[in-house]
Amino acid sequence: MRSESLQTFLGAAHTAFANQVRDPRGLASIQRIFEALDTAGDISDAPGARRPACKYLAQATDPETFADPSLRKLIEAFRALEPSLTWRPRSGDCTNASPNFAEEHANAMIVGPGGAERRTDVWIGVSLVAPNIRYPDHDHPPEETYLVLSEGDFMQGQGHWITPGIGGTLYNPPGILHAMQSGAAPLFAFWALWAAPHGA
Ligand SMILES: [Fe+2]
Repeated sequence: MRSESLQTFLGAAHTAFANQVRDPRGLASIQRIFEALDTAGDISDAPGARRPACKYLAQATDPETFADPSLRKLIEAFRALEPSLTWRPRSGDCTNASPNFAEEHANAMIVGPGGAERRTDVWIGVSLVAPNIRYPDHDHPPEETYLVLSEGDFMQGQGHWITPGIGGTLYNPPGILHAMQSGAAPLFAFWALWAAPHGA
């Protein structure tokens, strides 16, 4: 059984992603993802754990920052869920990342491998990046839709940077190279990946 805080978060995430995503490929992905989440996975009993970069969490998740009702609801649901999440550093290569990247970011898987709800078909999680830090270039087979809740720049493909802004979204097709970097404010963004075959 999902906890009330996880169920509330997933409902708020569904509404916020569906409201904000514009790319039809992202919308199709979000629909697949939340249909699959009608069935719960295995619930983890691992205790929550933070990383040094979580010192920016209060600033990044200040509800006052979010005027849009669905984003505000999402951030409040996230704040209620956060104590049960395990924050981790990203594993894998660090191409083009800031030298102090390891200590200056943290990711939490909410549903997905190693997440609060363990499953392989859907990954939903969040990244928190300290100010003035570049995340490594990376790619992965699952398609990915970002919902951005802060300032910060995002790269897709070779060197094309955009600034989605609060409530902005980004769809990464399978395998595309991508990265992100914060400016003066911490970067905070949710991501939703469809990791099962299409049509499955
Ligand atoms: Fe990614």
